[in-house]
Amino acid sequence: TLNTKVQENLSGVRVVKAYTLEAREIDEFQRLNREFVHRNRTQIRLITFFFPLFRFLPGIGTIVLLWLGGIHVVEGKITFGDFVSFNAYLMMLIRPMITFGFVVNSFERGAASMERIATILDVRPEIADGETARRDIKTIEGDVAFKNLTFAYPGGPPVLKNIDLTIERGMTVAIVGPTGSGKTTLVSLIPRIYQAERGMVWVDGVDVQDIPLTVLRSHIGFVQQEPFLFSDTLRNNIAYGVESATDEEIKKAAYIADLLDQVEEFPEGLDTHLGERGVTISGGQKQRTALARAILVRPTILILDDAFASVDTHTEDTILARLRTFMKDRTTILISHRISTVKAADLIVVLVDGEIVERGTHEELLALDGVYASIHE
Ligand SMILES: Nc1ncnc2c1ncn2[C@@H]1O[C@H](COP(=O)(O)OP(=O)(O)OP(=O)(O)O)[C@@H](O)[C@H]1O
Ligand SMILES: [Mg+2]
Repeated sequence: TLNTKVQENLSGVRVVKAYTLEAREIDEFQRLNREFVHRNRTQIRLITFFFPLFRFLPGIGTIVLLWLGGIHVVEGKITFGDFVSFNAYLMMLIRPMITFGFVVNSFERGAASMERIATILDVRPEIADGETARRDIKTIEGDVAFKNLTFAYPGGPPVLKNIDLTIERGMTVAIVGPTGSGKTTLVSLIPRIYQAERGMVWVDGVDVQDIPLTVLRSHIGFVQQEPFLFSDTLRNNIAYGVESATDEEIKKAAYIADLLDQVEEFPEGLDTHLGERGVTISGGQKQRTALARAILVRPTILILDDAFASVDTHTEDTILARLRTFMKDRTTILISHRISTVKAADLIVVLVDGEIVERGTHEELLALDGVYASIHE
């Protein structure tokens, strides 16, 4: 519709410009506008026809009334008083009748809207605490296991097949593999962003479906591949979800994410506003803000989904070195396309087409001379 078009064109203005499709978008916009005008005209035409008609009909009624009533009075069939009072009653009735029409009209409209609202309100989140949720679980230790996991998005083919993987607390495990091989999907199953079948994903030896969602998610720091920042201050973006964070803690997190130097260059430091009405930050700065956010939560399980894709290898080395102490007793899952990122991991898993094809340390995989070794070259 018209609104969607405007919204897409504004938020995608760079894409439109980059592909010099302004003319096409303007044409399309004009077409939608014409359609809008056309529909409005049809509506106006209907209104201009019916509105006078609704005034006209009572007018006719009044004439008929005066005519017939007048004759009756002249012929003495009814008294003049009867005639006047009848007329008065009728006048009193007209207003309520019109109002009644309006009420019926707005009721109809309201009912139609209500139906649409109700369908939204009635939606129950598919992923929620079930009856088997173990209320006694208050914390997460960080053991993660996938047992014979097969997963498909609704209506799609399986994107993960026969995954068996055990990650002990404190380990750093890396997942590498070609684009579309299912890396993001695999890690999304741990905080139950998507849900696998029962018995397939385990945390601390408990089926994730039996761990209260808030407990599970509040112990997982997930830096997503495409980080999302709010149009708010840098401070609030980093401390999102940790209201009690002190400046010192925020700065420490920013330091680990190698963001601190840049923060100090911003006009208002941590209070610099990001987004629509503030500073626009680079993709790499975005990723590091998201990383600082995850660090601040002090999660038991840290998931970094291609979190260094937009930073140069030098910055990445700095961050990884600083993260090492932070990750020491946390379970870390590292997704990357770069060998340099994953080299030091305790275990590297190679995912191809939703299946684990190789696993081992950097040296072991190189010796294997398979997929991993070929990426290395
Ligand atoms: N929300 C979704 N709904 C349906 N299918 C999806 C969804 N997200 C991913 N897929 C499909 O699942 C498969 C695996 O995608 P996934 O994002 O897990 O790959 P990836 O290994 O993370 O890739 P990349 O390296 O590009 O990030 C792809 O075929 C993709 O099309
Ligand atoms: Mg991905």
